[in-house]
Amino acid sequence: MSVSPRRSREIEQDRYGPAKRILSRIAHPVAIVGAAHGAERSCATGTVMYVSHVPPMVAIAEHPGSRTTRLIQASREFSVSLLHDAQQELAVAAGRSAEGPDKFASLRIPVHEQPGHAIPAVAGSLATMWCRVTDERPTGDHILFVGEVVDAVTDDQKIDALLRYRRRYLRIGHWTSEEAPEGYPT
Ligand SMILES: Cc1cc2nc3c(=O)[nH]c(=O)nc-3n(C[C@H](O)[C@H](O)[C@H](O)COP(=O)(O)O)c2cc1C
Repeated sequence: MSVSPRRSREIEQDRYGPAKRILSRIAHPVAIVGAAHGAERSCATGTVMYVSHVPPMVAIAEHPGSRTTRLIQASREFSVSLLHDAQQELAVAAGRSAEGPDKFASLRIPVHEQPGHAIPAVAGSLATMWCRVTDERPTGDHILFVGEVVDAVTDDQKIDALLRYRRRYLRIGHWTSEEAPEGYPT
């Protein structure tokens, strides 16, 4: 008996259902990934993790259909802006595609221009880094980009990171320990 494409997708989703729910239990920082090439600028809501301390390196996973992915592949660079909890509306906006060559302008996302870098970032963020792609590989339905952090700015006055957990935006809570003196940056 043949199975329709729709039913085949449903079967596939059922198979991965429990594992997909687990992914929503990983609390993530909310980031906006910025990219540019030629006259085009884009950005996408996403997340980031670090994968090396020395040299500092991070990883992002971008889906193949997005404009941001295409621009990263063309320029081999990206920015990551870690959002403050007052920037939730920007996360919602950047999570959709937009018309026009410059998504920052189309959606009125405030731009932080860093001297020496062509890639736009989001002004008012907790921290922003500019990365050079050192590795790219397909991972399931996304493309993993590993980037070396080549420049960074932080605003130490802003401590309330915007998080994503259980498919919701979330504010960070309160410190429950002293700052660790050394070791991992987290
Ligand atoms: C909370 C949240 C997290 C997201 N995380 C990712 C992600 O990790 N990777 C990704 O490719 N898209 C992610 N998206 C979806 C992109 O932001 C979305 O596809 C965006 O419209 C891409 O824009 P572009 O096509 O202009 O590049 C996320 C969206 C939201 C709202």
